[in-house]
Amino acid sequence: MALSRRTFSALAGSAALGFALGGSGGPGAPSAYAARSVPTGPAPAPPSADGERHTIGYDHYSLLVDGRRLVVWSGEMHPFRLPSPSLWRDVLQKMRAHGYNAVSIYVSWNYHSPAPGQYDFSGVRDLDLFLRTAAETGLYVILRPGPYINAEIDGGGFPGWLTATKGTARTADPTYLSHVDEWLTQVNRIARRHLFTQGKGTILLYQIENEYDAHVGEPTGRDYMSHLYKKVRGDGIDVPLFHNDKGRNGHWVPDSFDTDGEKGGWLYGFDGYPSPSQTPPDWGTFGPGGATGGSTASPRTPGFMPEFGGGWFDPWGGSWFDGKGYAESRRTRDAAYERRFYLTNLANGITLHNVYMTFGGTSWGWLPAPVVYTSYDYGAAIDEGRNVTEKIAPMHQLGHLLQRVPDFARLDRAAEVKAEGVKVYHLANPDTGTQVYVARNDGTEPVTTDLPTDAGNLRITVPAHDARMLTTGLPLGKRTLKYSTAQPMLCLTAGRQDIAVFAGRRDDMADLVLKCPEEPFVTRLDPEAAWAFEGDELHVNAPLGQGGLTRVLVAKGESEIPLLLLFADDATAVRIFPYDTPSGTLLVYGPSLLRHAELRGSEVHLTGDVIGETSLEVWGPRGIASLVWNGRKVPTRVTLSGSLMTTGMLPSVPEVVLPRLGRWRMRTETPEAGPNFDDSSWKKADKTSSYSVTPVPDGQPVLFADDYGFHYGDVWYRGTFTDSSGIDEVSLAYTTGTQGLLMAWLDGEPLGTHRMPVPDKNTTVRQGSWDATAAFPVGEKLRSPGRHVLSVLVRRMQHDQDGKGLDTHKVARGLTAALFKGAAPEVTWRIQGEAAPDPVRGPQNNGGLYGEREGWHLPGFRDRDWKAVTFPRAERRQGVTWYRTTFRLSVPADIDASIGLTLEDDPYRAYRAQIFLNGWNMGQYINNVGPQHTFVLPNGILRTRGTNTLALAVLSEFTSQSGPGNVQLTLLGRAAGGTPVAPVPSPGR
Ligand code: GAL
Repeated sequence: MALSRRTFSALAGSAALGFALGGSGGPGAPSAYAARSVPTGPAPAPPSADGERHTIGYDHYSLLVDGRRLVVWSGEMHPFRLPSPSLWRDVLQKMRAHGYNAVSIYVSWNYHSPAPGQYDFSGVRDLDLFLRTAAETGLYVILRPGPYINAEIDGGGFPGWLTATKGTARTADPTYLSHVDEWLTQVNRIARRHLFTQGKGTILLYQIENEYDAHVGEPTGRDYMSHLYKKVRGDGIDVPLFHNDKGRNGHWVPDSFDTDGEKGGWLYGFDGYPSPSQTPPDWGTFGPGGATGGSTASPRTPGFMPEFGGGWFDPWGGSWFDGKGYAESRRTRDAAYERRFYLTNLANGITLHNVYMTFGGTSWGWLPAPVVYTSYDYGAAIDEGRNVTEKIAPMHQLGHLLQRVPDFARLDRAAEVKAEGVKVYHLANPDTGTQVYVARNDGTEPVTTDLPTDAGNLRITVPAHDARMLTTGLPLGKRTLKYSTAQPMLCLTAGRQDIAVFAGRRDDMADLVLKCPEEPFVTRLDPEAAWAFEGDELHVNAPLGQGGLTRVLVAKGESEIPLLLLFADDATAVRIFPYDTPSGTLLVYGPSLLRHAELRGSEVHLTGDVIGETSLEVWGPRGIASLVWNGRKVPTRVTLSGSLMTTGMLPSVPEVVLPRLGRWRMRTETPEAGPNFDDSSWKKADKTSSYSVTPVPDGQPVLFADDYGFHYGDVWYRGTFTDSSGIDEVSLAYTTGTQGLLMAWLDGEPLGTHRMPVPDKNTTVRQGSWDATAAFPVGEKLRSPGRHVLSVLVRRMQHDQDGKGLDTHKVARGLTAALFKGAAPEVTWRIQGEAAPDPVRGPQNNGGLYGEREGWHLPGFRDRDWKAVTFPRAERRQGVTWYRTTFRLSVPADIDASIGLTLEDDPYRAYRAQIFLNGWNMGQYINNVGPQHTFVLPNGILRTRGTNTLALAVLSEFTSQSGPGNVQLTLLGRAAGGTPVAPVPSPGR
């Protein structure tokens, strides 16, 4: 159903709310955006496909969903970087448990479209399933289908076939737009079924384009954006749309392009990737000029960062940019980085905040753009092996706070506060009077200082390069906090009890004062805490991190409802999970993850993960009497704090023993090098023109692989000629991404290998790509008359991204020219790349190696006649050698083991390997480049209870001996629990 403009306005319910989509535009518009006080109170239930209509409006503070303020605390993950749909649920549940209320996803055009007019949304590409899973998990979705996404993905998301089409991408060019429309029609057909506005799912916001700064202020740019806007609206998408500005430049703010007269349906968003050494920028409320809105560039819309760096991508090793591995990203952008930058963002009025990446995943197969290798771990809070890292702590604490304590959704800048050694942001909620102080230490030493607050001077310590948030006057259920030096993490009502959690660094002392007009009855449930009642104030001191939670129960007083105060350090706080069920709110403490909770009568049913031995404690509605953990009833007792607690411990996850790999079989290939290889079925490379931005050299045929329909992985050329007299050198010009290479043979004899040089820091790289010419002396070899064959294999890596809107995805890949010194023979060129795309694994699974074309990577391939070999290997050969083995795993169904494949060898050896697991291309290992040695094998593709087939396609140079050396399975993580994993189809042959 396409919505007409009129229905769109009406649907948005703008009249009733006085803001929101399609709100009263025109001259009256400003008042429609006036900030208003909206109902506060407990957090609304997590979103679901509830069948109800919803409105999504906003003012300059925050989104207003059904009229209530919502702070969007979102994390980015890419379904295409986790090719096992069952595991989407695992990651989403981890995000939800750790405080996120939204997930932001790119949808990559090239992943779904193997050819013009062909679209695939099935299997690992099942967008509908992803959106359903997100809704079932209770997360909003921010959908970002491009058409251009960047994302360190091949062509920035543009399909390979688009490189061979007419028209300039990312402009209003009609040919380009016709392809774009086809894509958006496909995506929107699915998206429409999951709109939150219509109660069909949880899509809350929708992004068009990404970091589009190529044609700002030009008609083609405006027309392009306008076209996308109208197309998406025309397809029935009625949630607010937005764009992600590359930095806060004010590009594509409301009214900067034609939206068909629709007002209020467009948000301004911008991104930021500050380096850890940078002082966190003030992009909003505290920015220069004293902003009123969340982002100065658009004062009427809320502060929105569709991407804020939560880590950073890592380049290939062995060059000036020298990838160091993702442990380094995680170290430099650690939990303190997050606190320091994200708290600055919040202080600046950013109430829509998406952390790119929260789970990075794997750029498997030929997905990665040339700038990155296979792992896209990103140093994110959840690592590539799906393990929750220490970086989750600030996300967890802030996320739960923002969802459960509505005061943070509407903060104004308040009186300036200064404290020695730290930068202070002071804000206040005009409705509740809550004061918020963010104290940031940009120095290299810890600072202990007196922070002057409206509740007096508070002595605090802020570690080096860190920040902390304090509040005064915060309502805690029926009571009010005077101040606390520990950060509030959440406040909720469970049964007949209010519970407030405060968190901080290990060994911090929480100093908290509660306003109590009447003397309360205080019970110290853990010995570490101390309290005193003075005047009308209750003072509580609790050290953090002394072996878990510290509990203090405050009863009687002005209210009969007790208030339970819980104090936790970071490691403890991440094991505290609030969970709303239709029968009431639960607070669960103990396990490493709570996936799901539900009440069945007096029984609390919980599912989740345990890593280390733990007790389990649950606060919940009155009448709860027993606990069932992962389907098993566990004995409990009732505690003085009103919780149900296990009498024993949930055991830690058992060991997981992995088999050693052995029984390898080997076979060499590269028959294409031979003079008598039959290439008659190969395409003739005889085109004379191309849509590539790489010029076709004068007098040469087009040799660019994309022009012949070969878009991914290796490509072969065979040039046949007879008139060879006088030739003494062949020079082959070629273009690849980083780490590409070329190998050549003449009449079956190796001429050599040329590796694409990595430019040094000061080299200007033409159009962001890499090109080189390999020259081989051939005089000696061409003495014999008759037919000669030059065979060339190009590992061309991937297409460039098109970040600057210069069509750089159309830079040629493969050979670009072949020149002969001494003569000019007539050469007939034939070209062969990847075979027809694998219908299940998709177009980016394979390139054009002989073994791939013949299915040697597939599990069903019969390798019995291959030669039995043992690792390590040491062979000298130019060409491709395959190794295959099988291995059996028997991981119990209730254990989630995350497993990788590790390859190691003498780094001098010049070879690389593509890793195929059950036919799926899990990535490229380059022994002499690195830095990646371990490749994640996602469960689902990996049969954790069954037999697996591993195939390595090793491409080796003649310059050194080549391996594989040591190849083994590595355990990356384990937990008792997990989520059921359906096998990913892995057809053989
Ligand atoms: C952003 C871009 C993303 C990604 C990121 C770096 O600028 O929007 O797509 O490329 O940088 O990881």
